[in-house]
Amino acid sequence: VLCVLRIVAFAFCLDGDKKGRVSQFSAVLKSHRQAAYTTSLNQSQIYGYPTFKGQVLNGQQLWELMEGLKANDLLYYTHLLTGMPNDFLCYIGSVSFLNTVLEVVKKLRSINPKLTYVCDPVLGDEGKLYVPPELVEVYREKVSDKVDVMVTKWVTFMLQVVPVASMLTPNQFEAEQLTGFRIVSEHDGREACNKLHAAGPAKVVITSINIDGHLLLIGSHEKEKGQSPDQFKIVIPKIPAYFTMNIGSVVRCATTFKGTGDLMTALLLGWSNKHPDDLAKAAELAVSSLHAVLQRTLDDYKTAGYDPQSSSLEIRLIQSQDDIRHPQIKFKAENY
Ligand code: ATP
Ligand code: MG
Ligand code: NA
Ligand code: MG
Repeated sequence: VLCVLRIVAFAFCLDGDKKGRVSQFSAVLKSHRQAAYTTSLNQSQIYGYPTFKGQVLNGQQLWELMEGLKANDLLYYTHLLTGMPNDFLCYIGSVSFLNTVLEVVKKLRSINPKLTYVCDPVLGDEGKLYVPPELVEVYREKVSDKVDVMVTKWVTFMLQVVPVASMLTPNQFEAEQLTGFRIVSEHDGREACNKLHAAGPAKVVITSINIDGHLLLIGSHEKEKGQSPDQFKIVIPKIPAYFTMNIGSVVRCATTFKGTGDLMTALLLGWSNKHPDDLAKAAELAVSSLHAVLQRTLDDYKTAGYDPQSSSLEIRLIQSQDDIRHPQIKFKAENY
């Protein structure tokens, strides 16, 4: 049995003084929705929130949730998974939340020292931070150049978290931010993994590096501290589309998130639990599942007469349960 605690800093709601952001988000949402409605697909599967409420958690509120779990004797977890959407980046005023995440890791490890902490250091993609350009504008106007400060804080936080993580799943851009060097080759990717191992995590998966028109996953498992890690790559044919995943968060559909990263991290967590000593196998299974899911999504839109190039596609998660449960391994890992 897997007990996974997932902490995500969602911002379901934006309060009064953030009106600028609300309308920005709404505008993006609206265009996404309109795009989705032009298809004849089942509307319940579409981005579907005309309005959204709730609030951004600060550290104290996160800790209160922990206390609620504790009061019910529910603090035994086998896994902790964190991924933090860009919205958090915008709200990073709440440094207290970041520090509390570290406290959560400590607390859970004090109860289960074997806790596996999978950290997806969500920061950006394709050379850009996960901050919609419109918002960057808003922030530049409202809080002058604080964006840079926020980014610095975020990277600083991530550097604090990396040492306590069991597995790290950055994309190319995030690995670059965390290691401080550009990744333009396989060799660079492997070096980045080495650097990240030195910081702490025994398992590192750079989920995609864009090389020569395809995606390259690089995995690295340092089985004994200080020994050279087992490394492998998986070549992933690029599907020419952009994907989103609506997992109940407005943030997911309002920004540049694709959701593929979330699914990838979740699958890596699950398969690594089944194959704790074989990261390559776990990655083959995860990539094969994901590719099947994305291919089904693409086919679904095409069948509905929709041009997959014109907008991002909502991942057909529910329809792909068999690919998630029993993936056919189509993509093999090649050891270095
Ligand atoms: P996200 O934007 O959701 O945070 P990410 O940048 O963190 O994603 P990626 O490395 O881009 O994560 O994607 C994770 C996995 O999703 C990749 O390893 C790959 O298997 C799959 N994937 C993503 N986009 C595509 C694509 N266009 N074609 C094929 N596979 C893809
Ligand atoms: Mg990506
Ligand atoms: Na990733
Ligand atoms: Mg990601």
